[in-house]
Amino acid sequence: MISEKLFNALNEQINYEFESAHIYLAMAAYCADQDLDGFANFFIVQAEEERFHAMKFYNFVNEMGGRVTLRALTGPINDFESLLDVFETALKHEKSVTKRIYNLMDIANEEKEYATGSVLRWFIDEQVEEEATMTGIIKKLQRLKDNSHGIFMLDSEMSQRTFTPPTE
Ligand SMILES: [Fe+2]
Repeated sequence: MISEKLFNALNEQINYEFESAHIYLAMAAYCADQDLDGFANFFIVQAEEERFHAMKFYNFVNEMGGRVTLRALTGPINDFESLLDVFETALKHEKSVTKRIYNLMDIANEEKEYATGSVLRWFIDEQVEEEATMTGIIKKLQRLKDNSHGIFMLDSEMSQRTFTPPTE
């Protein structure tokens, strides 16, 4: 049985995942404005992933007999100092997501809610990947500094990213 406390926390996470999609779309718009279409693509795909995360929780809450309630999205950051700033902001965001997933896992463990724990286990693994992806790109950008040829190469690499919903 999922407690009201856990349902509320899961509902909060659904909203946060939609919020994340919004945040990444704003980052995509900044990149597009900088003529970095590959990076824009990267963040559009990232936004799709976040929407997928939101829907994974959404479907789970529905399945478990909870009531999903959505709220208005708060305004994302639209302006950045640089591409590096975008990715550092993205990493910071992913770290906050990880913290939230861990908190959810703590509640699920307290309640011995194994079904929720199983869903959260998937998210914990996912967060390891998300943080590693952002960290990897930050390292590349730090190495490239203002090397425009290198940024151009990285941008075309980023244009290759596509969204494929994970199969379980
Ligand atoms: Fe997410």
